[in-house]
Amino acid sequence: MNRPLVIGNWKMNLDYVEAVHLVQQIGVVLRNKPLEHVDLVVVPPFVDIRSVTSVVESERVSITVGAQHASVHEAGAHTGEVSVPMLQRLGVSWILVGHSERRAMYAMTDEVVAQTLRTVTRFGLTAVLCVGEELSVRESGDQDDFVTAQLHAALGGLDEASRGLVTIAYEPVWAIGTGLTASTGQVREMTEHIRTVAASLSLDGVRVLYGGSVNAENAAALMSEGRVDGFLVGGASLKAESFLAIGQAANDCYDGKR
Ligand code: PGA
Repeated sequence: MNRPLVIGNWKMNLDYVEAVHLVQQIGVVLRNKPLEHVDLVVVPPFVDIRSVTSVVESERVSITVGAQHASVHEAGAHTGEVSVPMLQRLGVSWILVGHSERRAMYAMTDEVVAQTLRTVTRFGLTAVLCVGEELSVRESGDQDDFVTAQLHAALGGLDEASRGLVTIAYEPVWAIGTGLTASTGQVREMTEHIRTVAASLSLDGVRVLYGGSVNAENAAALMSEGRVDGFLVGGASLKAESFLAIGQAANDCYDGKR
């Protein structure tokens, strides 16, 4: 079992003042009750990152910071984009790549996902590759083939150094922000499938997370019965209490099974 990882994806929520407040709250709780067996990551909007990393450093909060997206390009005439080196300079160590909202709403193709992932890992940052099927695919029973194709497109031919810098998040599109969580059986089947495909691409032992309406109530069952290595959390990561309750569930599951 891998050490659990719980990532809070704030999406386009919380301005920098609200972001600072949330990280300070997380810091206060963690100081009183550290989570020894889980890695916690917060993923704020770009404009919040500097403020968040300042709080993390000055108040020694035991979390690391990620970004929700990065440009496939390293620099140059790309108005509105943010590069991996810029994020690295701010203390970011994780970058979400190919979140379904980027794929669906911002035309992020499999090819751009693959290239972005390579840009991220080339700079030594960890890419959190997001995969997952839409409802119509699930209803026709083709989810395994669909996710296999996404994994091959993103991870095929990856060099050895980059392979160690990948985490995979399975996020069925129909479960994101809908309150509809995949069942623990569905999560377990897909997690096993993803591990098998990843191993065939020489990514043995990769961390596989689940995302899609994870909350404080369902986290423990998803972790133990779904056999995931942690979570990518959206809505429930916007409050310190629910985010840390999910972290606690992951922490306790791992502790009980070590
Ligand atoms: P949700 O989002 O937890 O609000 O469903 C998850 C995600 O999109 O990463």
